[in-house]
Amino acid sequence: MLVNTKDMLINAQKGKYGVAAFNVYSLETVQAAIRVAEQEDTPVIIALGERYFPTVDVEGFAAMVRAMAEKASVPVSLHLDHAYEKESIIRAIRCGFSSVMFDGSTHPLEENIRLTKEITEIAHMAGVSVEAEIGSLAKGAFSDEEEGTGTLTDPESAKAFVEQTGVDFLAAAIGTVHGMYQGEPKIDIELLGRIQQVVDIPLVLHGGSGTPEEKVREAIQSGITKINVNTEVSMAAVSHLQTYFENKDMMHLSTVMEDMQRAMEPVMAKFVRLFAGK
Ligand code: 13P
Repeated sequence: MLVNTKDMLINAQKGKYGVAAFNVYSLETVQAAIRVAEQEDTPVIIALGERYFPTVDVEGFAAMVRAMAEKASVPVSLHLDHAYEKESIIRAIRCGFSSVMFDGSTHPLEENIRLTKEITEIAHMAGVSVEAEIGSLAKGAFSDEEEGTGTLTDPESAKAFVEQTGVDFLAAAIGTVHGMYQGEPKIDIELLGRIQQVVDIPLVLHGGSGTPEEKVREAIQSGITKINVNTEVSMAAVSHLQTYFENKDMMHLSTVMEDMQRAMEPVMAKFVRLFAGK
């Protein structure tokens, strides 16, 4: 069933588990995410980034995901990931996204607060929940995200930000990166604990790919409820396709796409089980 992301994350906060938010860009990525969630009997968040708006029919895509979510045996929500433009947020709200992320992290704090508050008021009028980010993730290998500064979240700024904007869940920068780590990951769980002490809304961890499992478990115990995953799933699909094309004669595209979906599913299942504490 299609649910509001906020309700899903409040439940995760109470139950101390994490929900996977898989970045999607095709039918197969959505099918894989929902299929895995059903197999593991966990909720799942389908996340489409603003960066794919130029190439994806957003209204058509949202209608498709909503229809698939309604049929699903587990809670599914449709989330707009990393949106920088108000127009994209309104477009997502109009076509039925459950939640939106406004990424004002490139602005100074005061401006980020002003813009996020405005977005939050608009989204809440439509019953859509809002994620925002304080701090900024650096970019590792094979990621398709924007380059960030790697600035960690300051707990006092996070507290003021949440109080003044009314956002529903907050992405905290604690040292994870978008993409695969180059060198030893430095994840600051102690900082996350300090953020959790002053912020009572559900917390979000971006950069799920490559993050050591032990750190993920500790982060969930310190208030993380939603974990974004993109790069590792993409890598599984692309490396599958590379070996596939080396070994096969001319294949039909339908077979190629189906096999690519099957290659993504075990990677998604690994994350879903880890986040659920299985
Ligand atoms: P990864 O690509 O590191 O999994 O991060 C995804 C993400 O945080 C999207 O917002």
